[in-house]
Amino acid sequence: MSKPDISTSAGSLQLSNPFLLASGILDENGYTMRRILDEGAAAVVTKSIGMEERSGYKPPIVSVDDPIVINAVGLPNPGILNVGNEIKIAKKSGKPVVGSIFGKDVNEFVHLAGKMEEYGTDAIELNLSCPHVKGFGSEIGGDSSLVKEIVENVKGSVKIPVWSKLSPNVTSLIDIARAASDSDAIVLINTVRGMKIDIHSGRPVLTNRLGGLSGPSIKPVGIRCVYEVKSSIDIPVIGVGGIESAADAIEYIMAGASAVQIGTALWKHGRGIFSKVSNELEEFMAAEGYTKIEDFRGLALT
Ligand SMILES: Cc1cc2nc3c(=O)[nH]c(=O)nc-3n(C[C@H](O)[C@H](O)[C@H](O)COP(=O)(O)O)c2cc1C
Repeated sequence: MSKPDISTSAGSLQLSNPFLLASGILDENGYTMRRILDEGAAAVVTKSIGMEERSGYKPPIVSVDDPIVINAVGLPNPGILNVGNEIKIAKKSGKPVVGSIFGKDVNEFVHLAGKMEEYGTDAIELNLSCPHVKGFGSEIGGDSSLVKEIVENVKGSVKIPVWSKLSPNVTSLIDIARAASDSDAIVLINTVRGMKIDIHSGRPVLTNRLGGLSGPSIKPVGIRCVYEVKSSIDIPVIGVGGIESAADAIEYIMAGASAVQIGTALWKHGRGIFSKVSNELEEFMAAEGYTKIEDFRGLALT
């Protein structure tokens, strides 16, 4: 019997398998991104890049109390003028590189998207949802008219696909997703707002006090968000949140996701996770008699 076909697409972007590297984990450096692509990721999303270099918050910026992972890194990034070469290096893999950007207003998003296109990225991911940086986009993802304006303007200014990454920390996800529906795909979810307190000192553990929860504890939230959006809007969705195995990804795909991203699991499982999940997915599909991803995508929606 021939091997199942695990290729897929996210909007117009063709992917050799459904597994992408999520923004923020090992993706500031061109060589690291290239290695992750060479080891089996179908594409990488860069760390979110802003107008200027930022060093982020002072440590502690991450708290790991397995499986509970909370971070507030403060969007450290080299700034848009310093990432062109990293993208060029990552692109030598021949696989897609997606440029993640964040800005404080429409003009910044448009400028950053234009630079990413100039650097040769294959798509733009708008980080509309970072919950950590006060005054730097923390409110953008919760304001549907601003989301609509950013998406429409960025779409009108670049030729490459534009993805909108949304936050689960909003009152009506569907309203925000509708506002972003000019995008070529919606990415769900960014981290879930959380907090950790040291019971010996009585102090918040993270310098920023509040942080974003990631890893396995947010998987059900991510799946619910993908399911809700796919139930009401006809748009490609990329799932992210707590994926550590093909089984986790299959849940997202059955909720309607076209592809998925993996972030926090890299810390625990290393880069080898990408070939592991692809192999597991092929085994699952062969055992269930599925020949292609479309055979089971969105099954839970019916
Ligand atoms: C340390 C860290 C940094 C992150 N930085 C970004 C970022 O720059 N831009 C972004 O859109 N998401 C960022 N994220 C969120 C992830 O891309 C992802 O949406 C979230 O962690 C859920 O996926 P996971 O459980 O696989 O990590 C970051 C997450 C972590 C843990």
